[in-house]
Amino acid sequence: MPNAQTILLENATLATMAGEEPYGLIEDGAVLVDGDEISWAGRRSDAPACANVIDCGGRVMTPGLIDCHTHLVYGGNRANEFEMRLNGAGYEEIARAGGGIVSTVKATRAASEADLKASALPRLDALLSEGVTTVEVKSGYGLDVDTELKMLRTARALGDVRPVDIITSFLGAHAFPPEFKDDRAGYIALVCDKALPAVANAGLADAVDGFCEGIALSVEETEKVFEAAKLLNLPVKLHAEQLSNLGGAIMAAKHGALSVDHIEYLGQSGVDAIAAAGTVAVLLPGAFYYLRETQKPPVDALRAAEVPIAVATDLNPGSSPVHSLLAAMNMACVLFDLTPAEVLAGVTSNAARALGLDDRGTIEAGKRSDLVLWDIDQPGQLAYPLGFNPVAAIYRRGEWVRPL
Ligand code: NIG
Ligand code: FE
Repeated sequence: MPNAQTILLENATLATMAGEEPYGLIEDGAVLVDGDEISWAGRRSDAPACANVIDCGGRVMTPGLIDCHTHLVYGGNRANEFEMRLNGAGYEEIARAGGGIVSTVKATRAASEADLKASALPRLDALLSEGVTTVEVKSGYGLDVDTELKMLRTARALGDVRPVDIITSFLGAHAFPPEFKDDRAGYIALVCDKALPAVANAGLADAVDGFCEGIALSVEETEKVFEAAKLLNLPVKLHAEQLSNLGGAIMAAKHGALSVDHIEYLGQSGVDAIAAAGTVAVLLPGAFYYLRETQKPPVDALRAAEVPIAVATDLNPGSSPVHSLLAAMNMACVLFDLTPAEVLAGVTSNAARALGLDDRGTIEAGKRSDLVLWDIDQPGQLAYPLGFNPVAAIYRRGEWVRPL
């Protein structure tokens, strides 16, 4: 229940993530929280009078973190494939042999809605314990109308039992299910004419995603799905250029995609296209790490073109069983050469943008009062350790989720 009280959180180093300076840093800052919203943020000496003051003890405050790319609702697990890959099998090879996404499809179809929810909760809790207050969750392990709906309902239901906003993406265009192996056009028609309208009618998707890759959909197939999404007024985004450069990102940019994700193999023309479209580049170092990819995303070119860069866990049972956004931030620094300031923007302001949300991701008047206090001295420390969680307190929508 939102708390209508006005509270002044003072004596914090604010990483506002607003403005031009790295971190939008305000030393000795204060934030006035008015229920769901921040009503003022700035230097403590300029703070408005407030009867209700909380001393943040000089800790660092950031916006609530946003994990803008996960597949955290799924059945089964793929530990056997992890083992197979360590014995020499390739990710694409396993997928072509009927494993990979399709093996999770089988387990997800077989799982009840209650089982899916029960297995997703501890994964979600792992993210929330690190100050995540908004999580995107994709479908895409159903690949039939009923199971896609079941996944999205499950994802939405998680938001009813935990203090988090769940943003959902319909990913029916993730792969071809076994029953349509020899009828790709038939499956695309099912997605466009049946699954997508059913999902939209039920109000279960905030966006439409796809996987454009040799082992998944072609550019032309994905574009059909994007055209169907447009008719339903749903924004699009794409898993693109993860394993090869097919040109998915250029097509996605043409459709005004919110984001293109993975993009290790994105070339300069792709960078130019997403820059012109205002599309966010979502980097997923967990998948790069687990698949032992060697091709890095074109970070210098993205910077030069001023493409907003986000970072996410890609939490999924196959390519990225990563349950820590802080770990993904560290990996983005070590593996992709992002700076700690870039990765913090990548899980706050730019992650919000990747989800099409303009009400959160920075500490500014008018933004959502999703805030995290950290037991660190300066914000650069967040991406520095691996396997250490310095969360001190979490404040979401006008309420302490985890008090000081
Ligand atoms: O983001 N790239 C495509 N989809 C997921 C993983 C799918 C899987 O292996 O289950 C990803 O990596
Ligand atoms: Fe993914």
